[in-house]
Amino acid sequence: MEDQAVARQQTMLDEVLGGLRKPQKRIPSKFFYDRRGSRLFEEITELEEYYLTRTEISILETHIDEIARAIGSRAVLIELGSGSSRKTRLLLDRLPSLVSYHPVDISEQYLEEVARQLSVDYPDLSIQPICADYTSRFEIPDSPSDYREQVFFYPGSTIGNFRPGEAHDFLKNVAARADQEAALLVGVDLKKDRTILEAAYNDENGVTAEFNKNILVRLNRELDADFDPDKFRHNAFYNEEKGRIEMHLVSEHKQEVKIDGERILFHEGESIHTENSYKYSVEEFGDLVKDWFSVEQVWLDENRYFSLQYLVKR
Ligand code: AVI
Repeated sequence: MEDQAVARQQTMLDEVLGGLRKPQKRIPSKFFYDRRGSRLFEEITELEEYYLTRTEISILETHIDEIARAIGSRAVLIELGSGSSRKTRLLLDRLPSLVSYHPVDISEQYLEEVARQLSVDYPDLSIQPICADYTSRFEIPDSPSDYREQVFFYPGSTIGNFRPGEAHDFLKNVAARADQEAALLVGVDLKKDRTILEAAYNDENGVTAEFNKNILVRLNRELDADFDPDKFRHNAFYNEEKGRIEMHLVSEHKQEVKIDGERILFHEGESIHTENSYKYSVEEFGDLVKDWFSVEQVWLDENRYFSLQYLVKR
C-alpha cells in the first residue's frame, strides 16, 4: 500500500476504535460511502419512501428560472460532495454563461468518470474536478478574471448529517474559503410528521438496512474486523427532542467483535449509533447560518417537506 493509503487507513482505524470505545458506541457516518455504500445510497434515492431526492429535484425543476436568476451570469459553480452530479445537470442546462464547474468529491475514480461524461454533454463548459474531502481544506483553482461570483452548491440535505455545532463550523469554513461575494445554494430537509420521516429511513425493501449494515462489511474488509452483519439489526427512529433521525445497528445478542486485534464487547440490545440526519424548520436553519450567511431566498415543495435555500455570504 502507498504511504498515503496507509495513513488514511490508520486514521480510519483510530476514528472507528475511538467511537466504539465510547459508552454509546458510534461509527462516523462518512464511512458508509465505499463503492457498495455509494451504490446503495443511489438506490435509496430512488425509493418511494425516500421523498428527499425527488422532492428536491421537483423544487429545482419548478423554480429553475428563479434559481438561475439568483445565480446570475458568469458564476463559478462549486459543488460540495458532487457524487453523480445528477441535480447539477438541471442547473447546467440553465446556466449557459457559467465560467466553470468544480465538482468536489473524495472518490477519485467516480469523480473522473462523472467529469468525463459531463464534458461530453457540456462541451463548452470548463469542468475542473477537485478530488478532496470537502469538509477539510481544499484549493479552488484560480478562475478567469472576468467571473462574477462563486456559488457553492450543497444539495441533498447532507448538511443534516452534521450536528448543528459541526454544521455551524462547516458553514464558517465555506464562508472563509469563499470570495468576499459568494453564495451557497443548499438543500435542507424540513421537520414534518414522524411517520413520514421514519418511513424514509425504514424502507420496505430493506435497502436502508443494507446500507446501514454495509458499514460493518467495510470495517471487516478494510480494518481486519470480524463483525457478523447478521447479528446486528437496523434501527432508525425520529428523536423529536433533538430534531433528528438516528440510525443505529443493534446487537441481537451478547457478542464480542475484534477490530485490528482489539476486543469490543456488545450486550444484547446495545447499539452502534451510525448516523444523524437533522431536520430543520426554515426559521431554525436561518438561525444556524446567520453568523456567516443571510438567507436570500427559500424555495419549497407544495407539501413543505424540503427546502432549497439561497444564502449569501455576509
Ligand atoms: C446523505 N444523507 C443526506 C442521507 C440522509 O438522508 O441523511 C443519508 C441516508 N441515510 C439513510 N438514508 C439516507
